[in-house]
Amino acid sequence: MQEINVTTPRPTREGLGVGSSILEGRPALRAEVEKVAEVAGFLWQKGWAERNGGNITVNVTELVDDDIRQMPAIGPVTPIGLTLPHLKGCYFYCKGTNMRMRDLARRPMENGSIIRILDDCASYEMIADNPVRPTSELPSHLAVHDYLLAKGSPYRASLHTHPIELVALTHSQKWMEKDVATRMLWSMIPETKAFCPRGLGMVPYMLPGSNELAEATIRTIDDDYDVVMWEKHGVFAVDVDVMAAFDQIDVLNKSALIYIQSRAMGHEPEGMSDEQMAEMTRAFNLPK
Ligand code: 13P
Ligand code: ZN
Repeated sequence: MQEINVTTPRPTREGLGVGSSILEGRPALRAEVEKVAEVAGFLWQKGWAERNGGNITVNVTELVDDDIRQMPAIGPVTPIGLTLPHLKGCYFYCKGTNMRMRDLARRPMENGSIIRILDDCASYEMIADNPVRPTSELPSHLAVHDYLLAKGSPYRASLHTHPIELVALTHSQKWMEKDVATRMLWSMIPETKAFCPRGLGMVPYMLPGSNELAEATIRTIDDDYDVVMWEKHGVFAVDVDVMAAFDQIDVLNKSALIYIQSRAMGHEPEGMSDEQMAEMTRAFNLPK
């Protein structure tokens, strides 16, 4: 029998070839997570991320190697609450529930984690770096990722945040009518239509974190929107990466601010005309 050598190190994550952070030696994965951290900082600076408000998930499956696929779980198998057939074996970076965007901006792997969707397509396990439980809005995020994969969409990121002026709009039913807010927001400044070309879909109030909210979000995205408003709560946006999703919300909220400033100056803003907006659609080959 072999003598136990007291100087022999115990098996560690390093010993398993895991490294102290999953990001080490993986520049593409690190770049995605750093983008999440940068956007989290913007959300805090904009005042859209009070306490733990908002969440981000990114489908990083294409950046995962065999070593990652072998990594052991660092937490329990947890049900998602939905069965999502296109997510089998997928990997996501997820903001942690109750974690603050302003903390995530500096320490993304302490305020979020990477999860693996298991073969039953109905549960997940955390694999790195720390056992940080994913956001309470995971049903909406994962259901939307499942929908996007099924459609063959190149979109890999979803972002939920609480932009003050856009949320304020939803406190009047006038703006909850289909495409009424979209038309007003597009007409405030030409860039809004160019850079949020599908407009703002509307979802009536539903319990945060519920499967019902997840299903309504998918129905609205399927109605051809990239950005969806959750009444009296916040915005949910999808795009190729988290920076692009942020940009779509940012241009919409800029338009809401211009509308409010005009009203504060004592006038109802004229808005661009229908002809001016149709000209934008033609000039920039926009979908609507
Ligand atoms: P989490 O902290 O669970 O991500 O929740 C924040 C939020 O905005 C819920 O809608
Ligand atoms: Zn929220």
